Amino acid sequence: MLRSSVRTIGVMTSGGDAPGMNPGIRAVVRTALSHGLRVMGIESGYEGMLRGSFRPMGARDVGGILQRGGTILQTARSMEFKTPQGQRLAIRNLNNAEIDAVVILGGDGSLTGGHMLTTQGVPVVGIPASIDNDIYGTDMCIGVDTALNTIVDAIDKLRDTASSHNRAFLVEVMGRNQGYLATQAGIICGAEMVLVPESETPFSDITSVVDEAYKRGKSHAIIVVAEGYSMSVSEVASKLEELQLGFTTRVTVLGHIQRGGKPSAFDRFLATRFGVKAIEFLLSGQVGVMTALNGRDIEPVPLATVISKRKALSPEYLNIARILAR
Ligand code: ADP
Ligand code: F6P
Repeated sequence: MLRSSVRTIGVMTSGGDAPGMNPGIRAVVRTALSHGLRVMGIESGYEGMLRGSFRPMGARDVGGILQRGGTILQTARSMEFKTPQGQRLAIRNLNNAEIDAVVILGGDGSLTGGHMLTTQGVPVVGIPASIDNDIYGTDMCIGVDTALNTIVDAIDKLRDTASSHNRAFLVEVMGRNQGYLATQAGIICGAEMVLVPESETPFSDITSVVDEAYKRGKSHAIIVVAEGYSMSVSEVASKLEELQLGFTTRVTVLGHIQRGGKPSAFDRFLATRFGVKAIEFLLSGQVGVMTALNGRDIEPVPLATVISKRKALSPEYLNIARILAR
């Protein structure tokens, strides 16, 4: 029975940071302590595993972090961990530090790493944390809501200046290969158009949207472009400029600002629930799983399933974005 064999757990954050990781760490640490477990913080994700950068964590070490963006454990991307030798070294370091199980907060890459550890005998529970919301099996990841709020704030401001100058604004948002952030932002910011990797848009459609917006007397046109879209935002802009439509065109790339800032109420609560459940799953022997939000419930989904499937963009949301952009 796993419960009796787990005395010390490791907790780490990995991949791109996401607002809400800190509340997640806090929940993991305090829930584990309440069950009489020892907790070691693993610094800088898999890099820390490879270097043996572990530090004991008590309740006070996670005080005052609920409202802080980023991650107090630092995060990193590690090429070395992807190799079999790297994974062997990481497991040896965990054994030497008597870390019996690991909770990993991160994106799909980090969860793939977690699956690799599981297949080699390390009990792992993953927590989905990525602003991209591209992880299969969970409705939401930690960080998505905060990132969306940042995007809304930015686009609302861009609309003010766009309207004042009669301009078309192309706003690039993050999301890696996924158009979730762009679609949601398009809906909740009232954008004229959304360009996502999941759906190819003929350039003539982009031209018509901008042209018609101008002809119908709109004071601006806002197009939200996912970073993974087939054409770069600057390419779209220069092609539009060449056509000399009524609006002049400007580009804004929101970039890493989307990953920062204090976690929203939603993200704090989601991260806290994920953190508590991660320890409960671990103690009940449910390992090699990810905490997943399914409707209102948090359920365990096997990491093997999570990493073998691609999360699809809701056609319903894409449709809503299109219908309302008039
Ligand atoms: P994210 O977790 O945000 O998706 P990455 O894709 O960069 O970020 O993954 C974070 C880290 O997870 C990588 O730097 C690497 O150490 C580890 N990782 C990613 N893919 C694999 C893999 N196929 N096998 C083992 N480890 C992986
Ligand atoms: O996965 C989160 C994310 O912010 C993606 O949206 C983006 O493509 C990528 O990470 C950027 O990574 P980096 O911080 O390494 O530039």
